[in-house]
Amino acid sequence: SYRPQVDSLLSLMTLEEKVGQMVQYSGGWDITGPESDNNKLKKQQIKKGLVGSMLNVTSVEKVREAQKLAIENSRLKIPMIFGYDVIHGYKTMFPLPLAEAASWDLDLMERTAQVSAKEAAAAGINWTFAPMVDISRDARWGRIMESAGEDTYLNTVVGLAKMRGYQGESLSDVNTIAACAKHFAGYGYVKSGKEYNTVSIGEHELHNVVLPPFKALADAGIASFMNSFSDMDGIPATASYRLQTEVLKEKWDYNGMIVSDWGSVEELSIHGIAKDDAEAAKIAANAGNDMGMESSAYAKHLVQLVKDGEVDESRIDDAVSRILTLKYKLGLFDNPYKYCNEEREKTSIYTKAHLDLAYEAALKSIVLLKNKDKVLPISKDVKSIALIGPLADDKNSPLGNWRARAKDNSAISLYEGLKEKLPSTIDLKYHEGVDYVISGENFATPLKINTTDDSKIKNAVQLAKSQELVILAVGENAFQSGEGRSRTDISFPGLQEQLIKAVYDANPNTIMVLMNGRPMDISWSAQNIPAIVEAWHLGSQAGYAIADVLLGNYNPSGKLPVSFPQRTGQEPFFYSHKNTGRPDVNPYDIIHSQHNDVPNDPVFAFGHGLSYTTFEYGDIQLDKDSFSKGEFINVQIDVKNTGQRVGHEIVQLYIRDLVGSITRPVIELKDFKKIHLKPGETKTVEFEISESTIAFYTISKKWEAEPGEFKVFVGSSAIQNTSKSFYFK
Ligand code: IFM
Repeated sequence: SYRPQVDSLLSLMTLEEKVGQMVQYSGGWDITGPESDNNKLKKQQIKKGLVGSMLNVTSVEKVREAQKLAIENSRLKIPMIFGYDVIHGYKTMFPLPLAEAASWDLDLMERTAQVSAKEAAAAGINWTFAPMVDISRDARWGRIMESAGEDTYLNTVVGLAKMRGYQGESLSDVNTIAACAKHFAGYGYVKSGKEYNTVSIGEHELHNVVLPPFKALADAGIASFMNSFSDMDGIPATASYRLQTEVLKEKWDYNGMIVSDWGSVEELSIHGIAKDDAEAAKIAANAGNDMGMESSAYAKHLVQLVKDGEVDESRIDDAVSRILTLKYKLGLFDNPYKYCNEEREKTSIYTKAHLDLAYEAALKSIVLLKNKDKVLPISKDVKSIALIGPLADDKNSPLGNWRARAKDNSAISLYEGLKEKLPSTIDLKYHEGVDYVISGENFATPLKINTTDDSKIKNAVQLAKSQELVILAVGENAFQSGEGRSRTDISFPGLQEQLIKAVYDANPNTIMVLMNGRPMDISWSAQNIPAIVEAWHLGSQAGYAIADVLLGNYNPSGKLPVSFPQRTGQEPFFYSHKNTGRPDVNPYDIIHSQHNDVPNDPVFAFGHGLSYTTFEYGDIQLDKDSFSKGEFINVQIDVKNTGQRVGHEIVQLYIRDLVGSITRPVIELKDFKKIHLKPGETKTVEFEISESTIAFYTISKKWEAEPGEFKVFVGSSAIQNTSKSFYFK
């Protein structure tokens, strides 16, 4: 523990210097650049030791220069900590978090985080604002791309893997960086999926669905938390004493630090719960926030607030202790320039090994959604292919949103991948099909494309007719999902749906490659197009990986971390819903919980994903049918590869609690195993059900297991037909 060092430093600090540690400014890319007034002010404050951290200062040169301002000018020479959004890579881009979650491969996710940390650390960064573990059940919300999807268990284990990758064994390792659990809490529940909207979450849902990944990360020692922008039941997260102090710091005994989101301290007055920035600073600090991101409210008002008795100095000491402890853990007090090594920066970013890992991650994140009559992999006898669609030769979109320092247009496009991987005997021709939407659609800045001109479609149709097979690359570009990219309609943007229908009409021998950052309404395509490959935004090596899956060089194994609805109007749409008093047992009876115009079934279910081989599941075997406290049930199931190819299967275990003190989900993921099977091979997969598998936040406001009957389901998606009962006594 660094308590003695922290206490002794704290005893030397003036109140102004302490408050300074709670201030974080954005370098806005030019902290070392031209002297704007804003920059001048920031620099002066840094020199006086009145800034604890900076974000968006990247590269060794810039970090070194900014750090020097603090170290060479300030009285106590306290180093600054440098944060950045390293969300799915620094320069080497890995698949979007949502995409990578589809691999269900925790070891892979740990390794990609490790490499992201290594690259970021080599560029002078020592803190990432990731992982985001917001349960994301509304595909209209643009930030769904940044999560591990709709499920609490999956977000928990993925969040932990990411944290292990970023932070490694020790924060003092120069290749690791501090991680940040965000956004605490409830951001994924913004009403109607509208960005920054208010949130209502009941007490039980908050504890059972939203908080568990955060609790797991706090217990595992994640270095920091970030507040959500959102207002939950009238209290913006940055102002929430309950969330920050009562739940996180007291109940969970968390000793890391909490950073606000960008300007979310000042936003308390815009929300309308503070009359001005001074009151906002008072509310946020008293609620338990430790550092204001890109905020001057603390710098301007906290000292006076303490002098006036509005904020207790012990609260400031607590915040500063947490911040200084992190700096000690990172080794910044031993060497403030520890992460500044020009040589390392040159040699350890965007290396061949990192690109190889990006390729592996892209392969493992692809989900084969549909493969009627084994259209895929593409037959060796095919002589000609038409590659059509706005995403087919897009070298930018596969990099996704939140792309850190990736070079624009640096991804391998699908066209490039196919050109490289296809035998030269195959005639490959490309047409973009429709003009592409350049950035996030926004009614305020109308698109510069003609959304009624379908002349390109006509040319694409001609091409489709002339070739034996069509590959359609459609979906969303990189900036149609992400922060500020909420949509009311999750169907294909622009003229793509017309393109899809016209091309299919011209040549039904069509394969669809979907690239996107959210589940979409692809109902027509799901019914008509024979093969659909979910290829998300897969990062730097996207095109090679997709081509290898299409050509059968790699057998896909990804499974959806989100449900695909029939229509946007069903959102938020997720598999672990409640039964309701009138479940949909008879689809022809309208007096049930359903929409009248579409079935309740997903188009593609959570956990769904096909392979080029087939798997057969045996019966679920339980070693006993009841257990009590301290005991567990062993679950076994045989899984056989009944096809012709080697393949991976993700075997999923779900449970249902039949009667609870509060209503319980119809099915809930509790565990999974990724197995590898040769043709004809059978493996017995084992799971353990213990008290913790069935425990939840009950009517008594306690996390506990209630006695009663449960069902266990094991299979290849959340659509489950067979189960076994067991009892907890
Ligand atoms: O980390 C992000 C956060 O998720 C959204 N607002 C800005 C922060 C820093 O860029």
